[in-house]
Amino acid sequence: MQPEITRDLFDKVILPVYSPANFIPVKGNGSRVWDQNGEEYIDFAGGIAVNALGHCHPQLINALQQQSEQLWHVSNVFTNEPALRLAQKIIENTFAERVFFANSGAEANEAAFKLARYYAAERYSPYKTKIIAFYQSFHGRTFFTVSVGGQAKYSDGFGPKPADIIHVPFNDLDAVKAVMDDHTCAVVLEPVQGEGGLTSATPEFLKVVRALCDQYNALLVFDEVQCGMGRTGSLYTYQQYDVIPDILTSAKALGGGFPISAMLTTNEIASVMHPGVHGTTYGGNPLACAVGCAAFDIINSPEVLEGVQKRRAMFIEQLETINDKFKVFREYRGKGLLLGAELQPEFHSKARDFLNVATEYKVMILNAGPNVLRFTPSLIISEDEIKEGMNRFSKAVEKVVNS
Ligand SMILES: Cc1ncc(COP(=O)(O)O)c(C=O)c1O
Repeated sequence: MQPEITRDLFDKVILPVYSPANFIPVKGNGSRVWDQNGEEYIDFAGGIAVNALGHCHPQLINALQQQSEQLWHVSNVFTNEPALRLAQKIIENTFAERVFFANSGAEANEAAFKLARYYAAERYSPYKTKIIAFYQSFHGRTFFTVSVGGQAKYSDGFGPKPADIIHVPFNDLDAVKAVMDDHTCAVVLEPVQGEGGLTSATPEFLKVVRALCDQYNALLVFDEVQCGMGRTGSLYTYQQYDVIPDILTSAKALGGGFPISAMLTTNEIASVMHPGVHGTTYGGNPLACAVGCAAFDIINSPEVLEGVQKRRAMFIEQLETINDKFKVFREYRGKGLLLGAELQPEFHSKARDFLNVATEYKVMILNAGPNVLRFTPSLIISEDEIKEGMNRFSKAVEKVVNS
């Protein structure tokens, strides 16, 4: 007989780096998820902005099933059709001329930061190594990416950090100007900071940072791991600003739930690379890329992209109704369906309580830091599901407020 799988087992067998909710999801369909007991949840979390088309989208299932009967893996000693097809789609729809596939956001960023350093060394000087990044930013959990990320709690305690990385406040042009110089190889930022609290870059900030990068021959790297792939209402968020990066990273929604990531760049920057400089065994895996192609075609449609702002408006309307009753939110942040609700000061540091109580009322939400609730639902969630989920969430808010 198989041993019983319970939440307690997690505490015995998994490295204690997470503290997951106390139910175990076993099935998902669209924006609904069921646990082991058959209890149904409305999903406003979307696997942290990954399940952009909800759970088990029929076209993604079809793509995965078809590819699973053709070819699973060949490594990068050989290329494969789905990877080339997906790269073509990305290139046709963005500034990019070259794509590097990997498996997670952190790996795409690792590739981006290595490329920026390598490009500077090849084209200018081995001493052009400075990376300018921003407080509260998040770029992943490898040692280079936590070091570039602007939250020391994720990079402290692991020994000497990679050198020559400077953090300054986000949206602060004077701070960037004060540290930018000829030794700078890259400025790295999220157009909308995801984990850090849903702060959007101002158009002026991106424009001037772009100009500074041009002035000092530094590369502008946009981490769109969380805010890309339709999440904010355009294929990539940079397309809403009049600013084009030199390198862009994409992950999360790119595979609609299947792990895949990509680093996008230009021919000129890519031209410093050659076989052996960088790589990964699984990057460009046929299964991942086949699902990626299907997800890309659906997300990159006017119907889905235009629906994002409509759904954001519905979410905010519902949150306003809750706020009229309970006075818990101070402001709404982020863009599109990367939506943050900052808590009023009296509820600061309680974001996690809202999350936990929300699951009691059968709705899944996220936080972004201790003071901001985050909603990253499916981009095609229905109006009924938004209303139903918000009814449940309202009860959770009432409970937290009265506790
Ligand atoms: C902006 C951003 N960059 C990078 C990452 C890291 O992605 P992954 O967890 O897939 O490595 C995340 C994950 O939340 C993210 O939000």
